[in-house]
Amino acid sequence: MSAQFPVARPRRLRRTPALRRLTAETRLAPADMILPMFVKEGIAEPQPIGSMPGVVQHTRESLRKAAHEAVEAGVGGIILFGVPILKDAVGSGADASDGIVQSAVRDLVADLGDSTVIMTDACLDEFTDHGHCGVLTASGEVDNDATLERYASVAVSQAAAGSAVIAPSGMMDGQVEAIRSALDAAGHENVSILGYSVKYASAFYGPFREAAECAPQFGDRASYQQDPANADESLREAFLDLDEGADMVMVKPAGAYLDIVRRVRDAVDVPVAAYQVSGEYAMIEAAAANGWLDRDRTIMESLTAIRRAGADMILTYYATEVARKLG
Ligand code: PBG
Repeated sequence: MSAQFPVARPRRLRRTPALRRLTAETRLAPADMILPMFVKEGIAEPQPIGSMPGVVQHTRESLRKAAHEAVEAGVGGIILFGVPILKDAVGSGADASDGIVQSAVRDLVADLGDSTVIMTDACLDEFTDHGHCGVLTASGEVDNDATLERYASVAVSQAAAGSAVIAPSGMMDGQVEAIRSALDAAGHENVSILGYSVKYASAFYGPFREAAECAPQFGDRASYQQDPANADESLREAFLDLDEGADMVMVKPAGAYLDIVRRVRDAVDVPVAAYQVSGEYAMIEAAAANGWLDRDRTIMESLTAIRRAGADMILTYYATEVARKLG
């Protein structure tokens, strides 16, 4: 006699919002969200960014207000990008003790203390006149080892200003090691490093280059950022950064690289961040403005997918808005 099994009915658990909430495998929380913010030197009013509606280049004053709002909403962290008045070949503004990032970090530390985690992107592209992430050789290539010395100095100056987490984003070989040694030598043993370990040479950074005024003036970043075709290489990059002393690793961009987020999450035993970058933001905003996508649902779905893929924390321009909604 054959047993009569009941028909499987997965829909039972999808029946009501309360059942779906109870059985959700992935949850978003305000503390998972890290807000990237731009602060520009020498402006009197915040400047809108055309390709990122709703995101601005802040003045020091407007940055303080927006950072306060982010903290009120409960975001887990803030990461700062600076846009200087003067750019030069070596990116002198990046490690100036009175540079825009250092000044803004001091403001935020004074205002916010330890109520959130204040992080800084450590790179040169916003500060160089040629727009590359490092210093150049005579023939115009990015000089890896000369750049490491600059990154070390940038990191130390950011730490001295009060940054709790240094996030090197330039994809130079050995950058985490160089920064870790320099931080330790300067007495900043407690400042941590979030490696942009897995960073692809991506078209999705387009709007950021308007926001941070850092488009390369010649060539592209493909000789230092990763080829989108590669996945195994991401694990090598992540392990190298961990060997060099990274406390956390990042995958960037997020949405088009969810397979990489998952592989990295499965391979490492440190917190994994993923960056929903400017182009991901711009696509949602543009489609929503046209009435082609439901903005709120698309935002939540995109962030949930990044968490589901394995990211412990997400850098997103939606951080404050979403934290408020979740709060
Ligand atoms: C480099 C840096 C970039 C981003 C973060 N750090 C741009 C680049 O590599 O060209 C992109 C972030 C985004 O697109 O939102 N300092």
